[in-house]
Amino acid sequence: MSDHTLTGGAPDHAPNDALAGRGITEALIAAIAHSTEPMALSDPRLPDHPIIAVNKAFEHISGYTAAEIVGRNCRMMQGPGTDDATARKLGRIIAEGNGCVEWLVNHHKDGTPFWNLLFLSPVRDGEGRIIHYFANQHDITKGLPERLSEVNFGRAHMPAEITAEFQRLVHEIAAATAGSDDPAHARALEGVIVAARRLAEVSSALAPGAA
Ligand SMILES: Cc1cc2nc3c(=O)[nH]c(=O)nc-3n(C[C@H](O)[C@H](O)[C@H](O)COP(=O)(O)O)c2cc1C
Repeated sequence: MSDHTLTGGAPDHAPNDALAGRGITEALIAAIAHSTEPMALSDPRLPDHPIIAVNKAFEHISGYTAAEIVGRNCRMMQGPGTDDATARKLGRIIAEGNGCVEWLVNHHKDGTPFWNLLFLSPVRDGEGRIIHYFANQHDITKGLPERLSEVNFGRAHMPAEITAEFQRLVHEIAAATAGSDDPAHARALEGVIVAARRLAEVSSALAPGAA
């Protein structure tokens, strides 16, 4: 296991804002680590917006170890077959500070292409500053992108639903990190895990082929 594999610890990079002091990043990473969904956390304040942590499921979907991907921009998974317009759109959406759901061709480390259904959402601090981007990836190669419309997979309404889940996750994290030794703290941490699971459920339910 690499230094960056998520088991509940903090990444090497230590964000320099007040929220980090309250353990937001660490709590967020702990929540992500419990998910069986591929997830990645980035830091837009660092040069070229690198990934700062991924979980085991992300290592599985990408073929890269956490150590190989942390510190690099996720565009490294793009390549032959990736729609340039979609990739550029991702860049615009991130530059505007928005979230999105998009799908594009990515490549495993061994070069095998796959369709990646990508959920992206900004994580803001209490003053509205974007301190991280959070991503969830699905391999939808078996559920061809053409099928997305068949399951009413509307790009328009999904970001709102996903954003609501992320907001809930951030709220739970804030609650979890506000207390210290009291029993409510343990309950709040449990809330973090529940919120992360709900996020995974929502994204799974919206994926192509879901009932
Ligand atoms: C947290 C995070 C996760 C991302 N995950 C992926 C991914 O799995 N696959 C992908 O093709 N792009 C992913 N991206 C998008 C690229 O990193 C990049 O933002 C996109 O290619 C647009 O920027 P560019 O035009 O500079 O390449 C992710 C971005 C962020 C912030």
